[in-house]
Amino acid sequence: MARYDDPSFRESMRLRLDYNNMMSDMLGERGIREDEIDGISDQLDQAARALVDNRGNMRWRELPYNQEQIVEDIIKAAEEIRKRCEYFVVLGIGGSALGPIAVQQALNHLRYNELPNRKRKGPRFYVLDNVDPETMTALFDVIEPDKTVFNVITKSGGTSETMSQLLIVSDILHSMYGDKISDHLIAVTDESKGNLIKIARLEGLCTFYVPDGVGGRFSELCPVGLLPAAVCGIDIRELLAGAAYMDGICAEEDVRKNPAYMLGTLSYIAMRRGINIHVMMPYADSLKYISDWFAQLWAESLGKLVHRDGSDAHAGQTPVKALGVTDQHSQVQLYTEGPFDKIITFLGVEKFRSKVAIPLRYEDIHDVSFLSGHSLNELLQTEQHATEYAVMKSGHLSETITLPEVNAFTIGELLYMFEVMTAFTGELLDIDTFNQPGVEEGKNATYAMLGKPGYDEKRAELESQPAKNEKYILA
Ligand code: PA5
Repeated sequence: MARYDDPSFRESMRLRLDYNNMMSDMLGERGIREDEIDGISDQLDQAARALVDNRGNMRWRELPYNQEQIVEDIIKAAEEIRKRCEYFVVLGIGGSALGPIAVQQALNHLRYNELPNRKRKGPRFYVLDNVDPETMTALFDVIEPDKTVFNVITKSGGTSETMSQLLIVSDILHSMYGDKISDHLIAVTDESKGNLIKIARLEGLCTFYVPDGVGGRFSELCPVGLLPAAVCGIDIRELLAGAAYMDGICAEEDVRKNPAYMLGTLSYIAMRRGINIHVMMPYADSLKYISDWFAQLWAESLGKLVHRDGSDAHAGQTPVKALGVTDQHSQVQLYTEGPFDKIITFLGVEKFRSKVAIPLRYEDIHDVSFLSGHSLNELLQTEQHATEYAVMKSGHLSETITLPEVNAFTIGELLYMFEVMTAFTGELLDIDTFNQPGVEEGKNATYAMLGKPGYDEKRAELESQPAKNEKYILA
């Protein structure tokens, strides 16, 4: 029996949300009042109902349940990949990269790539999520292509950045292996749409599919995230079990019993007050890239021009990434004394996977020796609590999510909870949470400038824009 099948394990791993420091009991008039939550109860009920009624359109919600065979196939493929490579490189961007990065950082050794082979659970792991030529060159300085499996991931199968990376990698592989590059390239994409599926078929690549109706930023719990995680030895069944457990918790329609709904409700009330910044601040290096993943989820889902009826919305809350304690020495000054324009979500960990004691030295220098006898664990957690206190005292809104431990189960819970929180907030804002029309303009302009067929009109539009005035350029 896996540990996540044991109800007492599941209960012991349940995430805790403490939103005291969002409320007026703690913050006085800057805090959110109970009656403010009660005052929108109809809207909250309606949003909760919509999430139940529209569940069928949110296919990401079924991922914890409907992938038994796929998970088996992924685990088999991962075992086989591990045997034949020393480097595993993801080519992807946005939702096709941020989840794999976040989960790898959370669940594997924090110096994973630097571990000797015998101590690592899989190949060295890299994600190319940019088209910076220096990064591409640097990657090929450290990997050996003949010992590498590249995993190209793109839901749409046509994202220019990912396709450019693929063209470069494919060219290198073809020059090494002629027509037979399939041992070194594996695809994750839509089963029928886009160009990657055509290329995958042409090259005879092993391919896993992004299920229909699962958008990029909601795709970490499908093969997009599961394959890279499994290759690096992460227990993907436990990850999905954690997500399923959180789904059960999120079935509660009462916002006061549902952490995802409560997080969404508090953010929504804050947004209505013009609080348009949301800082995600984990106090654990392992959770550092959860903030990057969350930033895309929150920004791309909620940053919308119009409501569903087409009326003006300009909705959204700008996500900011911070890390405790590191950013106490960089951003916390702003968070305590700056404008009242933000919520801070602290992510804490109850039990770390290591314990490091601070030894006794320099006994006579009391300003240093007071640290002795404590542990880094204690120091980190104390600093988190002290910062929570300072932020609360300064009248700024904050909430704390605590993970009993960082493991595949709790990470599954956390990702799923943030996804439901985002969907619920989108309902409250009455926007389309799952589209991203705002990124199209830049994409189309790039296509036009690079001469993609079918973009003549856009090219003409770009060429007709007013010339830049030299007086505004300093060089
Ligand atoms: O959330 C989304 O849909 C986007 O941000 C995508 O993840 C991103 O644009 C990459 O798309 P694709 O996976 O199609 O290459």
